[in-house]
Amino acid sequence: MNKVEIKDGVYWVGAIDWNLRDFHGYATPGGTTYNAYIVKDSKVALVDTVKAGFFDELRSRVEAITDPGDIDYVIVNHVEPDHTGSLPRVMDAAPNATMIATEKGAEELPMYYDCDGWNIRTVKTGDTISLGEKTLSFVETPMLHWPDNMVTYIPEDRLLLSNDAFGQHIAESKRYADEVPEILDEAAIYYANILMPFSPLITKTLQKIGEMGLEIDMIAPSHGMIWRDSGVSDILNAYRRWSSGESNDTAIIVYDTMWGSTEKMALAIAQGIIDAGFEVKVYHLRKSEWSTIIREILEAKIILVGSPTINNGMFPSVGGFLTYLRGLRPKGKVGFAFGSYGWAGGAVKAITGELEKTGVRVVDSISVKFVPGVDDLAACAKLAGKVVDAAEMQER
Ligand code: FEO
Repeated sequence: MNKVEIKDGVYWVGAIDWNLRDFHGYATPGGTTYNAYIVKDSKVALVDTVKAGFFDELRSRVEAITDPGDIDYVIVNHVEPDHTGSLPRVMDAAPNATMIATEKGAEELPMYYDCDGWNIRTVKTGDTISLGEKTLSFVETPMLHWPDNMVTYIPEDRLLLSNDAFGQHIAESKRYADEVPEILDEAAIYYANILMPFSPLITKTLQKIGEMGLEIDMIAPSHGMIWRDSGVSDILNAYRRWSSGESNDTAIIVYDTMWGSTEKMALAIAQGIIDAGFEVKVYHLRKSEWSTIIREILEAKIILVGSPTINNGMFPSVGGFLTYLRGLRPKGKVGFAFGSYGWAGGAVKAITGELEKTGVRVVDSISVKFVPGVDDLAACAKLAGKVVDAAEMQER
């Protein structure tokens, strides 16, 4: 097995999960990787490990570089099992290693693993470990996205080992972001579905990293491709943009439909959005991946949600999506609810309530009995113009 050296003495030793299609509910049609890194100096550190079931791949890659028994430090940047599932086998193979984690990480580890016999040392921001010529420097990043998170920085290599941050769920034989087309889009899907709720913290963390004066010319996350050269500023700028809530003149319409009435409304609204000068994307919730829709919402100004009434409420697909959206806490969106009903409504009112709880500024709503006529569809288009006006006013 060839070594994958990303800097002098720093090696990628991760695993490729070609067949992962669902990461706790987030669709991953392109698989993922669990990236781990060996830093080899007078002392040897393993930074992060891999999901349970991928230990043998990790071990083979480590053995191409060093005897696993020679590992002095195992750095646990984050306790979530996709990065620690193989820790028990790693510690069996590296019995002399000292494990390094934040205080929160050390609290969480015994909840997942039998830590008897593990030498766990805690670190906080600013703490360092010398490996010889190289230094491991730690920066806590709590709630990005668990309480335990930290990143590891190697100043001599200007290398940031960022764990989940700046990652993407994609399985590739390539290792660098600039070798994979549309990689920023993959990073956006990942940000939207995992990190969006923590956007204010991400803004502060980016500021903190700036204030600490960390010089970075490579970012090696624990999922997906490694950012180097101009890719570093590309991903840092994208994170600044996403975390600040910067948005495009785009509306996202999501809906479900029973006999086509709500769909007719969705399409009339879409045309109204186009006529008002915004771009629009339309998604039937039972035919589209929610994670893709969430990525589009990340950078859109407007979100419009439609459902027919069923059993006095909204369709379960719409309810499920709104629950997911609410947890992700998108910022600065404008929107409204729409839908058809038969003898009694309920869906539009329920959607409006959910949008408000999500923090969407709701400008109006529209309901149609049974089948929309020409006037109803004109009213849908008119409401589309109203929400575009509201989005433009909000910008000023
Ligand atoms: Fe990739 Fe939060 O685990």
